Amino acid sequence: TATVENVSVIGTGYLGATHAACMAELGFNVVGVDIDPEKIASLSAGDLPFHEPGLPELIRKHVQSGQLRFTTDLNDVGAWADVHFIAVGTPQVKGGTGADMTYVDAATTTLTQAITKDSLIVGKSTVPVGTAARLADLVQDTKNPGVNVSLAWNPEFLREGFAVEDTITPDRLVVGTTHEDDENVLRQVYAEALGRDTPWISTDYQTAELVKVAANAFLATKISFINAFAEVTETVGGDITTLADAIGHDTRIGRKFLNAGVGFGGGCLPKDIRALQTRVAELGLDHSMRFLDEMDQINLRRRKKAVALAFDLLSQDVIGKKIAVLGITFKPLSDDVRDSPGLDVAARLFNAGADVQVYDPQGSHNAAKRYPRITYTPTLDEAVTGAELVILTTEWDEFKTLTPENLNNKVTTRRIIDARNVLNPTTWETANWTFTQLGRKQPEGSI
Ligand code: UDX
Repeated sequence: TATVENVSVIGTGYLGATHAACMAELGFNVVGVDIDPEKIASLSAGDLPFHEPGLPELIRKHVQSGQLRFTTDLNDVGAWADVHFIAVGTPQVKGGTGADMTYVDAATTTLTQAITKDSLIVGKSTVPVGTAARLADLVQDTKNPGVNVSLAWNPEFLREGFAVEDTITPDRLVVGTTHEDDENVLRQVYAEALGRDTPWISTDYQTAELVKVAANAFLATKISFINAFAEVTETVGGDITTLADAIGHDTRIGRKFLNAGVGFGGGCLPKDIRALQTRVAELGLDHSMRFLDEMDQINLRRRKKAVALAFDLLSQDVIGKKIAVLGITFKPLSDDVRDSPGLDVAARLFNAGADVQVYDPQGSHNAAKRYPRITYTPTLDEAVTGAELVILTTEWDEFKTLTPENLNNKVTTRRIIDARNVLNPTTWETANWTFTQLGRKQPEGSI
């Protein structure tokens, strides 16, 4: 097996930019390639179009050391890199639910044509099962004569907000290959993690592709599972957080991803689940993943429930009423508002005529692109001043530590919906707040 020194990363979005910087951190010479010249220019300066802790610093460090650079020219890497990672997007197709494979297919074809040196192409994008086998054929049909090019599949499990950490110290590494040599190339790439005994799962293409979507589907299922029980405790009483703690102590279940609330969102879970359902339907297996329809429905019902609670608290009339929405990113430590439950709640209330005041530590600039008519305040104080209702929709630290004293003299009426179950009910009720949570039964006549 040849020694790996030079690595290219095709596609410099969230996944690609992170992967390129981390490969440089692991000691490789790295070139990130993207078709967007503006992106390339700003990346070289360490300016990212998204918020990811630690990543701008890592990029600047390695651009400065000369170990990392960015280009729009694939020919630049075709004669140079030993390993090419494909990290382009697989968005939801417009007007459909499947994954749009245009970018992966185009990147693979153009890259393969540019390759003039024996090398390995490694797919990292999240793709419908069967893609790697199809691309492997495409590579053989497209490659230049006399050059050895093969394909491996190596899915990525990074979380937003922890992208660098998840890439450098992953929970496990999964590689789908058809030749032992290709696996050995990837063992070199990930030698540092392997040295720490990171589990190494060597498998075929299909398994590698499916591990990714199965992990996402399982996580979504865990969240919707506890949210389904939240619907029950909302009706009969009981404490959803205690329930999650109690079942979570069973090590077979585990406590993580059992936080009931307004549900999951983001650029991955919702889209990947829909793409999985679409793919299995194409395979004639729609029945196998039908439970995911239910998971999706439970998830969407939670947003509607948060809005319904707001209507209940405001006597079914929200028109012109000032409502403070705290948190519109899909989760804390991110500026991402894609498929965000909090933003959805804010938009629904706005569309119903409420005077919605949104405060979010990071996400307002992105939310304003989508809903420019909603008011985004630069501080929490401004959002809550004069509010008749406060809704906590994303559990940022500064909201988790809120106390009634912070808000008492600012709001017009003491009403709060904790849609992430992070506040202590007793603290707020003692301070004469009408306090509601998703998953909590309301005392008779309290609303
Ligand atoms: C997810 C996967 O975790 C990651 O492995 C994959 O590579 C990409 O998709 P990410 O989109 O960054 O990562 O978000 P994640 O941290 O998984 O959270 C997803 C959503 O679930 C968020 O909206 C979060 O608020 C919600 N969530 C999470 C809950 O509602 N309850 C929980 O207990 C956990």
